[in-house]
Formats: sequence, structure tokens, C-alpha cells
Amino acid sequence: MAEVVVIGSANVDHVVEIEHRPVDGETILGSDLTFTPGGKGANQAVAAGLLGGAVAFIGCVGADSSGDLLVGSLAGAGVDLSGTVRVGGPTGVAIIMLTPDGENSIIVAPGANRQVTPEVVAGNEVLLADARVVVAQLEIPLESVVEAVWYAPGARLVLNAAPAAPLPAELLAECNPLVVNESEAASLLGDGAPEDGAGLAAALLELGARSVVVTMGAAGAFVAETGGDPVHVAAAEVEAVDTTGAGDAFVGALAVRLAEGSGLAEAASFASRVAGIAVTKRGAQSSYPSRAELK
Ligand code: RIB
Repeated sequence: MAEVVVIGSANVDHVVEIEHRPVDGETILGSDLTFTPGGKGANQAVAAGLLGGAVAFIGCVGADSSGDLLVGSLAGAGVDLSGTVRVGGPTGVAIIMLTPDGENSIIVAPGANRQVTPEVVAGNEVLLADARVVVAQLEIPLESVVEAVWYAPGARLVLNAAPAAPLPAELLAECNPLVVNESEAASLLGDGAPEDGAGLAAALLELGARSVVVTMGAAGAFVAETGGDPVHVAAAEVEAVDTTGAGDAFVGALAVRLAEGSGLAEAASFASRVAGIAVTKRGAQSSYPSRAELK
């Protein structure tokens, strides 16, 4: 039985390394293109699976070679694919520009991810009803995320609100935690958002989330829960070569630890260690550690 059910996107990441981001009207030469398994949902499922979680992935990929790549990577991490559907149309694609500082810019062409409909969610009623933790992001239709929460009343929802989008109040009220980076947090809060991580976390709690994690890359994360001040969790001190998917490694690791019964701050500390390893290697799923590598 899957304790962690991830519902979300699966993309093939088309990655090009560049010296600087092109400005309007500029053409630059980059590295050769690489094709690697990605997508926030699939990344989170793979990260959780490699860490030993009993994980299932609800999502859609095309009946093409890109879909094969993604299914192979998920299966290799031990993820239950009974909720993963092969559909007509292309698998999702992410175009990723990677700069020498390890930072990236990403454009997603959703493709099959648009077919993760409420009907697909309904078809996975049993998986969701049995889950301890449900993990979702926003690269699939928002109504499907809401539907998944409805089918999993006994589960803890970890919502990674990325890319940022307005959230219905009833969804926000289920987030335990809402996981966002600083720019996503500011986007949810709008004008007058605090400029520091602790302030952002506290404001999102005030907005209606049950708990909040604001991730801040090398500056760590802030965890906010009702009745206490936000707690800072340090990031690992490492040299980042590629931050792509590090946030997803964090979310997958957080979900595994929460499913094991850890408290939120302790789970965030574990997740921070995992993300710290992910940024030292290239790619998203290819950079994630197994549980044994953490010892
Ligand atoms: O968070 C990183 C991921 O965002 C990439 O793997 C890409 O596919 C996009 O979904």
C-alpha cells in the first residue's frame, strides 16, 4: 500500500547550458541539449521512492519515447505506477536554461499533464483513500488537485504551490504544509508581502494554511506552525552545480519523513540535507540520493 501518493506533472527536461540568459532579440550558443526525466510531480515521487517511501504516482505521460523515459525512472525508484496513465498526445516537456552559477530558468509545455483531469483522480479513489500523505504541485489542472484532496480526507496534504497560482481558500486550509519558495510566497501574498522568510511563513499561516515551509535555497527554510514562531532550518553548505529539481527533492523527502511520523521541523531538516545533495549533481531525478547515501 502506498503511504505517499504524489499527484502531478511528468516532463522530459530539455537542458541547455549557457553562459548568460539571452536578452530580447539576442541569439547565443549553448551546450548540446540533454534529455533527462523531470517534472515537479515525477521528481517528487522519485525522490520519495529513492528514500525508501512506499510511493505511488498519479499522472499522465504520452505513449511516446519520452513517456518511456519517465516511466522507467519512476519504476527504477520503486514507485507504484498503477495511477500513471499513458495518453494520446505528447509527454510534457520542460525547456531548461542552466547558467554557470547552477541557477536555471524553466518553460514548461504541459502536453499530457493537461490530461490529469478530475476523472483520472476519481479513477484512483482507492490509492488516495489509503494514503497517509498526499503530495501535489500546480503543473496539472488545479481542479484535479482539489479533487485529489477531496478523495483523501484522512491524508496529510503537502502542497508545493509551484508554479505560483491563486489558491482557493478551502484548498489553502488543507495545506499541512504549504511549501513555497520566496517568490511563490510573495506572489500568493500580493502587495505588501514581507521581505524575509520568517515573515513570509508567518503571513501564509495567517492567510489560512495549516502549516507552511518557505524554502530559500542556500539560506535554508522557515517552518511555521500554529501557536509558535517560525523556525529556521539551515541548508547544507555545499557548492551548487545545478539547482534544477532541488526543491522537488526537498518536497519528496519531507513527505517521506512526515509519513514516517516525524514533526514538520525535523522533516524539513531531513529534506534540507537531501536537497543539499541534489544541488551538487546535474539534472533533477539523476541528482537524488538513496536513503543509504544519507548515512
Ligand atoms: O522543479 C524542476 C522541474 O520543473 C523540472 O524537472 C521541470 O520539468 C519542471 O517541471
